[in-house]
Amino acid sequence: MRIFDTHAHYDDDAFDEDRETLIPQIHEGGIEYIVNVGASIETTRSTLALASKYDYIYAAVGVHPSDIKDLNEETYKWLAEQTKQPGVVAVGEIGLDYYWDKEPEVQENQRTWFRRQLDMARKANLPVIIHSREAAKDTYDIMVEEKAGDIGGVVHCYSYSKEMALDYVKMGFFIGVGGVVTFPKAKKLKETVEAVPMEHIVIETDCPYLAPNPYRGKRNTSLNLPYVIAEIASIKGLSEEEVAEIVYDNALKLYRMTGGRSFCQL
Ligand code: NI
Repeated sequence: MRIFDTHAHYDDDAFDEDRETLIPQIHEGGIEYIVNVGASIETTRSTLALASKYDYIYAAVGVHPSDIKDLNEETYKWLAEQTKQPGVVAVGEIGLDYYWDKEPEVQENQRTWFRRQLDMARKANLPVIIHSREAAKDTYDIMVEEKAGDIGGVVHCYSYSKEMALDYVKMGFFIGVGGVVTFPKAKKLKETVEAVPMEHIVIETDCPYLAPNPYRGKRNTSLNLPYVIAEIASIKGLSEEEVAEIVYDNALKLYRMTGGRSFCQL
């Protein structure tokens, strides 16, 4: 079974103690590729460092809505330059998060930098990784206005309705599914997985967060992805091998790695 973790944070403090031994173990354990995702200027730097150290780790560069205080014209320009680094396959994670930020001015700022990072992705010809929490309508409206369908990408850790998931599918987007799908009470997400065509689903850990059952609450790693695959297989009535193969191919398409490793000049 070949596995592609489309969204991980191996630069997180939670991996400080054993990162150097854990990452090669994960790769030997069948995780063929990992996209490590930046969420601030600092974690974009550490993500780029991981991608240059391990040839099976790729990078997404971007600033999460809860960290937009990092962004100004200077850091935006720096970020845009990083999109040209070898091993960079996406701009992300970017989007809106109204759960943590309630003030109208902060939310307005989030929308501004979301639009600008969409524009960055368009100019760099890279797909986007969307983070959206308690901001379903504004996220979707901005993506329609900014013609995100022409940019492409994934709505990561998808948590909204199945109807909206199908709207994203129509836009050509992938739906990112992780450990949450294994939780017994995740009825909405299970319905979404049932409704979304298999060709639009990718799997992710968002590690160190969101470990699937039976490891819920513990530190997550890519080695737990078979639990996510098993749950999707049971919802879809497919074998685990079939699901693994389809989501692996989907991840290559999402990050435009279908041409093999020659696409980047490592
Ligand atoms: Ni993340």
